[in-house]
Amino acid sequence: MDIYDSVIELAKRRGFLWNSFEIYGGTAGFYDYGPLGAMLKRRIENIWRDIYVINEGYYEIEVPTIGIEDVFVASGHVGGFSDPLTECGKCHESFRADHLVEDFASNPDTLTRDELSIIIKENNIRCPDCGGELGGVYEFNLMFSTSIGPGSKRIGYLRPETAQGMFVDFPRLLRFYREKLPFGVTQIGKAYRNEISPRQGIIRLREFTQAEAEIFVDPRDKSHPRFDSIRDYTLSLYSDHNQSSGQDQVGMSLGNAVDQGIIAHQFLAYALAMTHQFLMRVGVSPERLRFRQHMKDEMAHYAIDCWDAEILSDRFGWVEIVGIADRTDYDLNAHSRVSKTDLSVYVEYDEPRIVEKVAVKPDMGKIGPAFKGKAKAVMDALKSLDAVNLSNPSSNKMISIQVDGEQVDIPPDMYKVQQVTETIHGENIVPHVIEPSFGIDRIIYAVLEHAFREEEVQGEDEMRGKDDVKGEDEGRIVLGLKSEVAPVQAAVLPLLTRKELIGPARDIESALKKKGVMVAYDDSGTIGRRYRRNDEIGTPYSITVDYDTLEDGTVTIRDRDSMKQVRSPIDTIADTVHDLVYNHTRFEDAGTPIE
Ligand code: ATP
Ligand code: GLY
Repeated sequence: MDIYDSVIELAKRRGFLWNSFEIYGGTAGFYDYGPLGAMLKRRIENIWRDIYVINEGYYEIEVPTIGIEDVFVASGHVGGFSDPLTECGKCHESFRADHLVEDFASNPDTLTRDELSIIIKENNIRCPDCGGELGGVYEFNLMFSTSIGPGSKRIGYLRPETAQGMFVDFPRLLRFYREKLPFGVTQIGKAYRNEISPRQGIIRLREFTQAEAEIFVDPRDKSHPRFDSIRDYTLSLYSDHNQSSGQDQVGMSLGNAVDQGIIAHQFLAYALAMTHQFLMRVGVSPERLRFRQHMKDEMAHYAIDCWDAEILSDRFGWVEIVGIADRTDYDLNAHSRVSKTDLSVYVEYDEPRIVEKVAVKPDMGKIGPAFKGKAKAVMDALKSLDAVNLSNPSSNKMISIQVDGEQVDIPPDMYKVQQVTETIHGENIVPHVIEPSFGIDRIIYAVLEHAFREEEVQGEDEMRGKDDVKGEDEGRIVLGLKSEVAPVQAAVLPLLTRKELIGPARDIESALKKKGVMVAYDDSGTIGRRYRRNDEIGTPYSITVDYDTLEDGTVTIRDRDSMKQVRSPIDTIADTVHDLVYNHTRFEDAGTPIE
């Protein structure tokens, strides 16, 4: 049993994660979040909201998880969102061909399906399940399709990323943000991918949760207004140069990384810093986190620079949990083309610009009488002509223009080509998009694995000689979750199930609930067992009510990680625990230490 097995066993046994549809035998790629898992997930999502929505000011929107076909034709998902599939001729199980050739090719996800087929054949790679012969490789589109309305008239797709809904809403968002760049928008919601062979628990799901921010920036200036606040922030960076030259990741400040051209620009570097801050806050281990740059031939079709936050897992090695990309203007241009909607922004220059240019000057006196009701349209069409091609005097001749779909000939005496001076106040640009895309489920797995530990315990003397309860000598399993994400934040434990102890314990429970602290009341089993139960689910603090409570009005608070205990006044216990959980006050200051 490796750490993955131990984490999943604990997660299932204690109500974090369950296989979906279990009583029907389950189906790969779907997981339920049980009571503790759902709470953990919500807390992690809310920390993400705190950073991106509240602090960065990127409002959250919510759009349908089903999209119409046009959206995914424009985005390129209908044409190209696929993985290479090979099927076993004997047991008919399907596999990701690029995963099967990992030992035979250095960058399998860059290979074509023909190259993959050849590698499989030449190296006699067989079905991992039954040893059967594998078939030719073909591209399998990962989108789930559906039909909208009765009669299958209209095709729809379950969205493979939350991002597209935010691009499609761009004109509305632009108005909401008063037509000023940069601005950002966020969404937390389900995404769906019909993964070929998901065998990695919640790391590869067919229905999963993404938290994505789309930050629309001016492509001419990708400096971040608050870059100085993170210039010295140091991250473990694994650049494409380091990868191709066989070097490891290195710790480097973001200022240096941008100055040396390793990270494309400040906005992207800032997104890396925000990602790191979020991952630290939810409890990813800093030693098991790196940022890996995509190699040039690995990058998504829409990106010019892309970094994955990867965590080191015991069983799967480095796993991507967040993708951070500069998606350029690819998506807005694509949606603009297909929807025939202008998705540009008018940006004013700081100072107006004076430009000299050659322009067509229509002769109103002649065009008016000649074209009557059409005269204005004719003049507009003439003014918008590319005058450079007409500036040669020899081309000062009859020109043909299109007016309302009709060809109109303009004789040379009705226009002049001349040099003019114009003052330009701004221009229309299509914004570029910086996108951090978080896979919440993978983050949850990382948090669980990095928090999981088994400890030898030499007789924890929980009650320090009080009453009849002894510490238990067996080892303990601890989920060292950050108190901000722990599903249960405090346990209230009456030492014995006696009325005089139950009363104050229930009062503490109510007071904590009023403070918004998630509390579990537990009175069954020895106190040691109850501590162990709470250690396993990551409850950071346990409060024990004993007979001293009745005499001196204090209770014991036990810290999960150090197993240290303090005595703290019952009157202020709710505030004390609330501050420990949310305000990161020091445990040592929560009461008088018990020696
Ligand atoms: P992979 O190469 O591992 O399939 P990806 O490059 O396709 O991942 P992205 O398309 O960048 O992933 O998606 C953004 C984020 O969404 C990922 O960083 C990941 O955390 C999450 N994600 C993607 N696919 C899945 C999945 N099948 N199950 C769970 N999370 C996923
Ligand atoms: N939005 C990035 C991705 O899901 O690929």
